[in-house]
Amino acid sequence: KADDGYRLWLKYEKLTDAALLEQYRQALQSYCVEQKSATITALQSELANGLKGLLGNDVKQVKSVNNGCLLIGTPNVSPLVANLNLASQLKSLGNEGFLIKTVTINKKQCTVIAANKDIGLLYGVFHFLKLIQTQQSIASLSVATAPKIQLRMLDHWDNLDGSIERGYAGTSIWNWAELPKVTDPRYTDYARANASIGINGTVLNNVNANPKILTAEYLPKVKVLADVFRPYGLKVYLSISFSAPITLGGLKTADPLNADVAQWWKAKANEIYKLIPDFGGFLVKANSEGQPGPQDYGRSHAEGANMLAAALQPHNGIVMWRAFVYNTNPAEDRTLQAYNGFKPLDGKFNDNVLVQIKNGAIDFQPREPFSPLFGAMPATSLMMEFQITQEYLGFSKHLVFLATLFEETLKSDTYAKGKGSTVANVLQGKYSTGKLTGMAGVSNIGNSRNWCGHPFGQANWYALGRLAWNPELTADTIADEWIRMTFCNDNEFVAPIKTVMLQSRENTVNYMTPMGLHHIMAYDTHNGPGPWVDTAAQPNWKSTYYHNASAGGIGFNRASTGSDAVGQYFPPVRDEFEKLETCPENLLLWFHNVKWTYTTKSGRTLWDALCYHYYAGTDGVKAMAKTWDGVKGRIDNETFTKVQALLKTQEEEAVIWRNSCVLYFQTFSKMPIPAGLEAPD
Ligand code: GCU
Repeated sequence: KADDGYRLWLKYEKLTDAALLEQYRQALQSYCVEQKSATITALQSELANGLKGLLGNDVKQVKSVNNGCLLIGTPNVSPLVANLNLASQLKSLGNEGFLIKTVTINKKQCTVIAANKDIGLLYGVFHFLKLIQTQQSIASLSVATAPKIQLRMLDHWDNLDGSIERGYAGTSIWNWAELPKVTDPRYTDYARANASIGINGTVLNNVNANPKILTAEYLPKVKVLADVFRPYGLKVYLSISFSAPITLGGLKTADPLNADVAQWWKAKANEIYKLIPDFGGFLVKANSEGQPGPQDYGRSHAEGANMLAAALQPHNGIVMWRAFVYNTNPAEDRTLQAYNGFKPLDGKFNDNVLVQIKNGAIDFQPREPFSPLFGAMPATSLMMEFQITQEYLGFSKHLVFLATLFEETLKSDTYAKGKGSTVANVLQGKYSTGKLTGMAGVSNIGNSRNWCGHPFGQANWYALGRLAWNPELTADTIADEWIRMTFCNDNEFVAPIKTVMLQSRENTVNYMTPMGLHHIMAYDTHNGPGPWVDTAAQPNWKSTYYHNASAGGIGFNRASTGSDAVGQYFPPVRDEFEKLETCPENLLLWFHNVKWTYTTKSGRTLWDALCYHYYAGTDGVKAMAKTWDGVKGRIDNETFTKVQALLKTQEEEAVIWRNSCVLYFQTFSKMPIPAGLEAPD
């Protein structure tokens, strides 16, 4: 059966295993909901559609329970749920968590989905449907789960003209021209998909923000989207331009300490909240890559953020202030700058401000060490910014499952409070007096029929949501769920394709930037290799394109004898990175300038090891393509053929990456390609 990918992981195709189908039908004969709200309506329609699809028959709604009833409710409204005395179990689950339990009511065997709030029920229903989609037993359930992170966000870098910065799946799904009168049904499907993975916030527009989003022309359009998303627990946020008081308000300054400026933002916040009472707040890129900000007036990031926070605070709004700032002084290592700029501001931000930090200190590279800011600001609410869109990872042409990248960062131990102070723990606010926690992913969604361009791109959206809910999840679990929900439960498909997904990111690191290399992509577009960028002609980028290859070796010295970026990490991480012998080899050239003849752990010279990595990358893509060829017939032909063609493209581009880099670096190493490896041309 042809599939265009529109339904994402919520396909709800009828189960093919007859015995299993019968079991589910027995266990699910009816459902009962005793309450009403927009969220409950959404939940009922999801449940009815989902079960009809999966089981092939209507599951009727009833008013009293019988055997095989699914009871759904909050104890404060539903008497049947209240009778189950779940209060103590629900207590720790907050506003968004839920329970799913097998229970006996009046001697009838039932399943209950209970929560404190309706949104918890909706999340519970999605979880329950997932159990069936992934063919798990629902015979004796005892699930209790609540999100470990409060703000679980998608950041769209969508412009008001429909283009998307670093977007590779078409143009924006927000049709600003048609809004507010026309409401595309796709907005509802977008909200469903997000709710199904627990995402509860969306920033609609690019961080390089057009101030027009705050005008009376656009706010009513934003309101319509907020209205569509509300039943799904999805709040709307906007990126703002710090100089909006000048460009929109006609003021002479945007100085955050100027009373008129503060007043302008207060009035703007009031105007927004009149339309959207549960508006989430602002995301701000300030004094970064040419954007205006408080430093234009000699004020600090904290002063800028707090002025906005004060305007939003009466409405319970928040500010997400980005730490992605660097100057273009070629003499200063860019990786140092976010930490140096923000650490001194620890404790200076208002309670409703989060500092949003990219996972690494440069910019969403295939591999970076975790940003040293995680753990370094114990008196500030910090949030993670991952990039889902594959700006540096082959756009939507390459199959790269990013959950392994996210997992690697989240599991990294900062040692901020001794062993076990992982980034995941930092993000849960365990060592901070800050009140807020968050994780954002820069969206890879566009108006492509299948949302993300590459059919496997959907998995990265899925992964971000799952990890924001629970940053302890493994990439393996996430891949398993996603494959079963998106494609099928056929183990002959699931097992090999899971292996493909779990290896895909390392393959990409290998054919692009192995051993700690970084930012050697083509200048500006970041599409394909560009290690040869003329740093003399681009002095601002000298510290970025810094493989620093020469006859003497390759890599950036960030040890104490160099830029001392290692000094920003807590010991013993600092000491591990500092020494050539203990620095993880997959980050070697990030932290060290290493001789071509240096003996690596494999016994090979650095040059040989580098070559082997590049070849392992292309071999890895070949292997992925071969595995894919082997699953022909196990999923719909349309998706199969598309992925097959994309893997061909990836293979060709991986070879271009490998050959370009190996031949370019060889002009410095002057060493031969190791025997046995095919000669690059
Ligand atoms: C990268 C990206 C830009 C983006 C910036 C940001 O530099 O290339 O397009 O605006 O990150 O995160 O602000």
